Amino acid sequence: MALVGLGHRATTTYLPLVAAADGRVELVGVLDPDRAARARFLDAAGRPDAVQQAVDLDALLRDARPDVVIVASPDDLHAAQVETALRHGTDVFCEKPIGIGTADVSRVLHASRASDAALVVGHNLRFHDLHRAVKDVIDSGRVGRVTTVAMTYYLLPGHGESYLRRWHRTRARSGGLEVTKACHHLDLLTWWMDDVPVEVSGRTSREHYTSDRTPPDADIDDTVAAVVRYAGGGLAMYTLVGRADREGCSLHVQGTGGRVEVEWDAKAPPGSEHVVRVLTTGQAPSTLRIPVAPGRHGGADARMLRHHFDPWDPGAGNVAHAAVAVTVGEAITRSSRRGATVDISGTDAVAHLRGRP
Ligand SMILES: NC(=O)c1ccc[n+]([C@@H]2O[C@H](COP(=O)([O-])OP(=O)(O)OC[C@H]3O[C@@H](n4cnc5c(N)ncnc54)[C@H](O)[C@@H]3O)[C@@H](O)[C@H]2O)c1
Repeated sequence: MALVGLGHRATTTYLPLVAAADGRVELVGVLDPDRAARARFLDAAGRPDAVQQAVDLDALLRDARPDVVIVASPDDLHAAQVETALRHGTDVFCEKPIGIGTADVSRVLHASRASDAALVVGHNLRFHDLHRAVKDVIDSGRVGRVTTVAMTYYLLPGHGESYLRRWHRTRARSGGLEVTKACHHLDLLTWWMDDVPVEVSGRTSREHYTSDRTPPDADIDDTVAAVVRYAGGGLAMYTLVGRADREGCSLHVQGTGGRVEVEWDAKAPPGSEHVVRVLTTGQAPSTLRIPVAPGRHGGADARMLRHHFDPWDPGAGNVAHAAVAVTVGEAITRSSRRGATVDISGTDAVAHLRGRP
């Protein structure tokens, strides 16, 4: 395996994979322009002999010849790096988001179609026990056909502010919070809806982190609200609050035969429980209690890594859903700017999700 981008995500999530003593995953190369980051990572991985590159991914893939490359660089670099890896015929596991807008999405979809190599995008929140439980309830039919999903996601101040301070602070690098952060949630909404989004209305604004508190070039907003209409008529209402007294979300899934209600505390410690209330019309309400798993993102990262890297198995890939999440996020930006609803039914991502690329 090779790793591209050796920052926070790579160190917290992928380093344990390659540093494990069982040798199931062998690190053969790394790429990062930051020499200190390379040295730190290779030292911690116990592989100082791995091939190193500052920025030339072609050379890394040619010289180290990995079976799979993990891309964990800043968001604006993903599409080009994924395209390069696919062109080499190397399987890719790319961090979310797959790109920062529809131009990136089209580029990746084209590269993916033209390559025999596999592409998986790290939408780890699909592997969270609570989110899977909500999916299982919906799929069981206990609430009927889903008509609306309402999610408000809250960020604690330290978390929200980090986006306004780090590289995410410019739209050119992150696509704004509606892409870099919301892509997680927009992907969950489409997964739960089990339908294709076709129309987006959105507004974004800067409510909390005023310009005197951020670097002068910070041009992203910290508050996002959107309505997404799906092909089958279902609606998703989504809000992202960049500064709140809690981390997690309120979620209401309304169906033709009942409702699912969740108050998710993303900081709940292992040993406590997530609570999912299921109200089926004509029946007594029931409560699912799901143990909070240890580990990053409530155990979702570990579950995702086990699923794909134990041993490496890309499965069917999830590029269409990842592409749709970015397409909806970018449509929120466009809708907010224009003050009008944005039709995404003709985009490459939606065509791909419909199976008509
Ligand atoms: N799935 C999740 O829960 C989750 C969580 C955090 C971050 N992420 C994603 O992981 C990625 C990395 O985020 P991070 O927080 O680690 O950022 P970071 O800034 O900590 O690390 C990014 C690294 O990429 C390096 N880099 C810069 N230019 C590069 C290039 N041309 N080629 C290769 N590397 C380059 C930087 O030097 C840095 O070491 C982002 O796409 C982010 O959205 C995902």
